[in-house]
Amino acid sequence: MIVTIDGVAASGKSSVASGVASALSIPYVSSGLLYRAATLLALEAGTSLSDAPALLSLLGAAPLRLEPLAGGNRIYLDTPDCPRELTADAHTSAVDAGVSALAQLPQLREWVNARLRALTPPFVAEGRDMGTAVFPQARAKFFLVASPRVRALRRVKERVGDVEAVEQALIARDEQDQLQSHPAADAQIIDTSDLDLAGVIAAVMAGVQE
Ligand code: CDP
Repeated sequence: MIVTIDGVAASGKSSVASGVASALSIPYVSSGLLYRAATLLALEAGTSLSDAPALLSLLGAAPLRLEPLAGGNRIYLDTPDCPRELTADAHTSAVDAGVSALAQLPQLREWVNARLRALTPPFVAEGRDMGTAVFPQARAKFFLVASPRVRALRRVKERVGDVEAVEQALIARDEQDQLQSHPAADAQIIDTSDLDLAGVIAAVMAGVQE
């Protein structure tokens, strides 16, 4: 069984996917974390975020390992001499600002998608295009939306920042991610603006059990 939870930036996808996966006792997989880790490595190496061949060669030499824990995904760089966890560094504003450029490249989308399709179900897959491009065969699909202000208020609780600036950055990222961010025809759209986390998880669980 595969359940997909897609949605716009900071719509609560990770927390909802984590809650749903825990309730179903299955892992959840954050596709965004792969895009983020790839962006982090490129920024650190000084590789252009629009140079697909250079990015693929950088990633080909990077032993990245995604740990799809239901409680929260983690990502590691398993270099033999100096293994390192990248999870926290993949969530900085520098990565936020750069990730959409890398995610626009079809070759990089294929690199992420191949890794996701190699995973053995059951799992909850979370991102932008899980229900459309990556797992069209999923049993239940959801797409989360919320107003930019609500999303900005949620994000400043996770990371420090000015609400106005965070809201503008989210709107900019929504625009850049537009191409890959639309609900599947058979997805249930959930507006989370007026729901708390438990409410959204309950709505998804009701949909899964239909
Ligand atoms: O929760 P938030 O939207 O901030 O982050 P995320 O889900 O970790 O996604 C980070 C970025 O990865 C997005 O802004 C997209 O550029 C890209 N992404 C994508 O293009 N397709 C996906 N399936 C998941 C993420």
